[in-house]
This record gives sequence, C-alpha cells and structure tokens, in this order.
Amino acid sequence: MSLSFEGRVVLVTGAGGGLGKAYALAFAERGASVVVNDLGGDIKGGGKSSAAADKVVEEIKAKGGKAVANYDSVEDGEKLIQTALDAFGRIDIVINNAGILRDRSFARTSDMDWDLIHRVHLRGSFLVTRAAWNHMKNQKYGRIIMTTSAAGIYGNFGQANYSAAKLGLLGLANTLAIEGGKYNIHCNTIAPVAGSRLTETVMPPDLLENLKSEYVAPLVLWLSHEDCRDNGSLFEVGAGWVGKLRWERTKGAIVRNKNSHMSPEDVRDKWDKVCDFSDADKINTIGESLQTLVSVLSQVESGEEIGANPTSSVASASGINPEAAVGQKLPPSQFSYSHTQCILYALGVGMSTTDQDSLRFLYENHEEFGCLPTFGVIISQNAMMDGGLSSVPGLNIDFTRVLHGEQYLELYKPLPTSGTLTSHTTVADVLDKGSGAVILLDVHAYNGDELICYNQYSIFVVGAGGFGGKRSSDKARTPVPPPQRAPDAVVIESTTRDQAALYRLSGDWNPLHIDPSFAAMGGFKEPILHGLCSFGFAARHVLKRYAENDPSRFKAIKVRFVKPVLPGQSLQTEMWKEGNRIHLQCKVKETGAVVLAGAYVDLHPASGAAVESLQTGGLQSELVFAEIGRRIKDMGAELVRKVNAVFGWEITKDGQSASQWTIDLRTGSGSVHKGPYSGKVDVTFTVSDEDFIQVVQGKLNPQQAFFSGKLKIRGNIMLSQKLEVILKDHAKL
Ligand code: NAI
Repeated sequence: MSLSFEGRVVLVTGAGGGLGKAYALAFAERGASVVVNDLGGDIKGGGKSSAAADKVVEEIKAKGGKAVANYDSVEDGEKLIQTALDAFGRIDIVINNAGILRDRSFARTSDMDWDLIHRVHLRGSFLVTRAAWNHMKNQKYGRIIMTTSAAGIYGNFGQANYSAAKLGLLGLANTLAIEGGKYNIHCNTIAPVAGSRLTETVMPPDLLENLKSEYVAPLVLWLSHEDCRDNGSLFEVGAGWVGKLRWERTKGAIVRNKNSHMSPEDVRDKWDKVCDFSDADKINTIGESLQTLVSVLSQVESGEEIGANPTSSVASASGINPEAAVGQKLPPSQFSYSHTQCILYALGVGMSTTDQDSLRFLYENHEEFGCLPTFGVIISQNAMMDGGLSSVPGLNIDFTRVLHGEQYLELYKPLPTSGTLTSHTTVADVLDKGSGAVILLDVHAYNGDELICYNQYSIFVVGAGGFGGKRSSDKARTPVPPPQRAPDAVVIESTTRDQAALYRLSGDWNPLHIDPSFAAMGGFKEPILHGLCSFGFAARHVLKRYAENDPSRFKAIKVRFVKPVLPGQSLQTEMWKEGNRIHLQCKVKETGAVVLAGAYVDLHPASGAAVESLQTGGLQSELVFAEIGRRIKDMGAELVRKVNAVFGWEITKDGQSASQWTIDLRTGSGSVHKGPYSGKVDVTFTVSDEDFIQVVQGKLNPQQAFFSGKLKIRGNIMLSQKLEVILKDHAKL
C-alpha cells in the first residue's frame, strides 16, 4: 500500500530551496498539509526574503496541494509551530533542515562563524522542536528529523564550526528518541548528500547534477510515516542509496589491578587489545555502556586476571539489559472489532459450518452467538507485532530473530462480540536461556474500566542470550507436562491448504506464512502455519470435547510452541482431564512431531453439574459462594478497587435463616467467607436459597425479586448495583 500523509501536518524548515523544497513537495504530493519555512537569506546567513518560501507554496498549490509559507528564522521556533497551528490546527512532523555554511580553516574561525552556525543549525532545531514537543506529546504522535552531515560524522577540512553543530544534532536526536519513545514521538537523523547551493562550491557540477534532492526525500518521508518503527537511528542517504549507521566498540581490556596504581604504561601495554575491532560490540544504550564499567569494577575487585574481557561485553553484544527493560510499559494500544472479525477468526482456526455446533461462532444472528475465547490473543497481538517493543530501553534486539515461544491467555469474562478494547503492555521479565533471550510481555486488555483478559506472550530472541541474566521467573506462566497415562481423548482434524492465508486476515501479516521466498529465507520449504492458529485449533478441540462449546466455560490456556505445522497437515490433539484442567498436546498426524507441548486449558465447572450435585441436599447457594470465592481469588484486587464494599448475606430455607455469608470487597484482595462480618457491613441481602439460585442463573430479575419481597435489602441499597458485577458476570452458574 502506498504511504499516505493525508491528515498530517508537516513543518519543513529551510524549504525555500535545495533539499527542503524537495521534502515539502513530496509531502504535499502525498496529502500532507505543509508549512514551508524559509528565511530566504544567503548561504552564509545574511539577508532575508519571502520569495523562496512563497514560490514553493505556489508550486504546491498549483498541483492541488495544501501549504502555507512562514518566513521566520528557525531561531524563532515558536512562530514556526504557531503558523502550523493557525493554518492547520496541529503539528505532526517536523523536518529540521534549514542551514547555512561559514567554512573557514580552524585557525581562522571567528566567534561569529562559530556562533552563527550553532544558532541556525543546533539552537534553531532545538527551538523549533521544543515548540512542537508538547503538542506531539499530548496527541501521542510525532515524527522529527534532524539533519546532520558526513562532515560531522567523519570531520571535514574547514568545517570545524559546522561539523560540531551537525554532530550536536545527533546527540540531541538520541536523547529525544529516548524521551519521546513512550509518547510515540520518534526522532531520527539523516546525513544527506545532494547537489544544492550549499554544495556547489565543493563538488564538481556533473556530480551535483546527478545527486538530486529527490533521491533523499523518500527516506525523509518513510521515517516520518506512522508505519516506520525506527527511533533514534542515523542514516546516510544520497544518489538513490540509503545506509544505516551505528556505534561499534572494541571488547577493550581491563588495564588495572586491584592493589596497584593504574599507569599510562598499563594502558600502552594493552593498547593493541584496546584498539582491536575484531569481534567488536554494538552498543546501543547508555545502560549497556555503563554496565560494562560496573562489571569491570567487580572483576577488578574479585582480582580476575587483568585484560579479561568484561562479561557484560556479551550483554552489550546481545543488546539486552534486563534492569533497563523490566517494568517498562509499551504505549497502550486499541483494538476495535465487530462480529466480522470474530467470525473471520473462527474460520481461521478451522471452524466450519459442516459442524452444526460451530454456528454459534459463525453466524451473528445465532441466539447464542459468541466469540471464540482464544480470540483474546488477537485483541492484544499488537503488543508483539509493532507495539513499540523496539523502542524499549535495554531491548535492542534483532527483530528478524524473534520467535513466539509460549502463550498464556486468561479471560475474566466472555469476550464481547464487538467493541474497542485497550491493551496495556508491560515487560514482565527478561530471561537468559543461553541460546537466546526470553522476553515476557504481560498484556491486560480492558473494555473501559473493566478488565477483560490477560495475555502473557513469551518471545524468544535467538542468539540474544548469554548476558548473565536469570533463567526463570516467578512471573512466567509455565507449561505443565501432561499426565503419564494414555490420553483420555484424541481429536484429529485437517487444516486446509489455505489455513494460513485465512488465519493471517485476523491481523498477523508476517510474510513467513504466505510468501514462499520469504519462508525459504527463514529456512522453511514452504510458508508455515501460525503457531497461534494451531493454538486456536487445540483450544476448540478442548472446548468441544469438554465444555459443550460453551465459551463462558473457558478460563485460561497455556501452550509452548515447539515445531511448525504446514498448512494442509492434520493436527492431532491429545487431551487428559484432571478436574477442571484439560492437559493437551498437539502433534502433526502425518509426521508424529509434537507441535504444541506442556499445554493446558482451564475450564470453569459446568453449571448443570454443579447445580445438579446440589439437589441431593444442603444449600445450593453454598456452591455459588464457593465459586464466587474462587473468582475473587483470581481478580480480587481489581474488584476491591472497583467495588470497595462489604456485602452480607442471609440465606433462608423454608422461612428459617439457614446460613450467613460475607463477601468482603473492601480489604486486601477480597474474600468470601461463611458467617457474619466482624466490622461494618455496607449492605445486607436476605433471600431464600431457591430464589438466590434463580437470581444467579438469570431466571429471576433482582429488581423484581426486591419489589416482590423475595429479596430484602438493608443498608446502602445503591451498592447492590455493584454486586451485579460478581453475580451476573462472575457467578454465571
Ligand atoms: P540550501 O541552502 O539549498 O537550503 C537551506 C535552506 O535553509 C535555504 O533555503 C535557506 O534560506 C534556509 N535557511 C537558512 N537559514 C535559515 C534560518 N535561520 N531560518 C529558516 N531558514 C533558513 O541547502 P541544502 O543543501 O538543501 O541543505 C539542507 C540541509 O541539509 C542543511 O541543514 C545542510 O546542512 C544539510 N546538508 C546538506 C548536504 C548536501 O549535500 N546538500 C550535505 C550534508 C548536510
């Protein structure tokens, strides 16, 4: 799909000519509203004219684009941003491009030569960007480009002032990338080469002619687009080529002994090692850089051999720093869907109208139409895809080497069949498995204030281990091996040749699952099925075999992805029932290879069975309270936060008081216990055992029960509304 900037407002500084003009025209052509800024001076920073900006604005308008001119110097940053706000009401993208030259050999560089260059390039970019910053932060979107130069990166004769200011811009961008990341503000830097009035004195005309600004603009547009995840990166660009740069550091050498003085000779003697770039580390963050020093201190302290490579160099190489990463939150993401996505997902995981039972998931007008519980992974999958993981400090990993290792999903209520849910993602832990690193992402999805489901994605990063981290975590939802006996039930079902092609429409667009050449690059003979598709198949098999296809019985699922499945192969799901936990293992029938291991589905107990077992004696309400107790255990803290009250119950049988219960949602993480409450009860309900069951089964409306005298309420009657959360949705027996 072509990249559009429709609805985006862009400020390009110094857009009256050269590179800036090419950017402004290109943005306008793709639908952006453009502020064309240019002071219209000469290349040394003298003079002023509105003509340059006006001409570009005219050209954009003549082509049907949207643009306004601004003639202020970038040193008046606020005014430039104000022009964008006045004309278009917002600012999304800032291209810091304006620039001048005052080349002198260093000895002849005057204060004025130094200051003017710094004022326009470095201070100007600072002032313009600062003026835009809060607007971007508030709207949680911004793209900023800084323009550096090869002269800054490598040095250039006669450009001391310019190279200092230009590399200053890179430092500025590095920090803005870190501060802006969590607000979805990305800041990248380019070092362009193009023929312009700035370069005409230093390059031959033939060469200049061919180094067109139009060969730079496409990179600027891509970096400015919402789809581009790069943040804090540096690129060289020109002549139709783009390359990315990063830092490299030698392994270095420790040149100090615990009990001796560190001398210049110690440094000299290790010089070859200090400067040896073979096997160099790529350092991405200041955390990684400092980590080396901390590790060196402890190595020197423990008297390890001088010159040993600091172990954290390994950490730096892998780019993982758990201390920086754990606890970091990704920007919240929203997922809107309708019944169409629910149905498409159901088809993607193999539901078919050939099975009458499936209609409740495939037909929106079915009286029991519902969403397959495993759709819960789709709601939050953005966290794994492009939800900002690449901008988390301490997680500088190669995203082409990422595998989906394990998945846990728990539902707190049946998924709505449409709506907009918001997912909040936290890096729960980072583990070192030697051959790779495991990143645990905890994602909670809410419907408004209401917690709907929780996913834990375990992401395995091949080759990123060995950073000296821990191997396991108490945060991890671990796989559980099945019992030793033969399975209690086995279901075999073929996937279709187009299973992956269908499943990917639920939003996992990785070409690995459709594009043969991409799959070949990954070492697969053909595109493979999504692990989460087999996961959906397996969950369906359990739901059908052990829960009569009732999605409200589904509580949680855990799987470990072991091997890929090819579309068209048959899945063999083996199941073992242990109480409410169904252990499972999935194999490819044709090869016998285990593809999902250590897996289980937890179910809520069946309502019929529960109530039936009660008919034999005792109070039916006992079981309901027991079940409420279990559920409060699961999400008590959440309920305590929301409800914050204590409820008393008097259950009667044949007109006599038969039992008392307390639901405490005021203290700790909530509890249910039999008997009266010692403190203040906010509201007390008196109801017969039979009517209570009628109410929780939805057969008797609580309001009706109240007005007909079947349900008596003492205390804060308004609070009974809040109790519906538990009774209606959490004790649906
Ligand atoms: P250019 O001279 O054609 O464009 C720069 C524009 O900035 C001019 O239109 C000028 O009027 C405007 N400007 C200067 N001071 C200003 C101020 N205070 N406020 C507002 N506008 C101001 O030069 P070119 O080549 O297009 O350069 C664009 C940027 O790219 C500059 O930052 C330059 O340092 C950088 N660059 C260019 C290279 C090249 O090969 N062209 C190489 C490396 C960096």
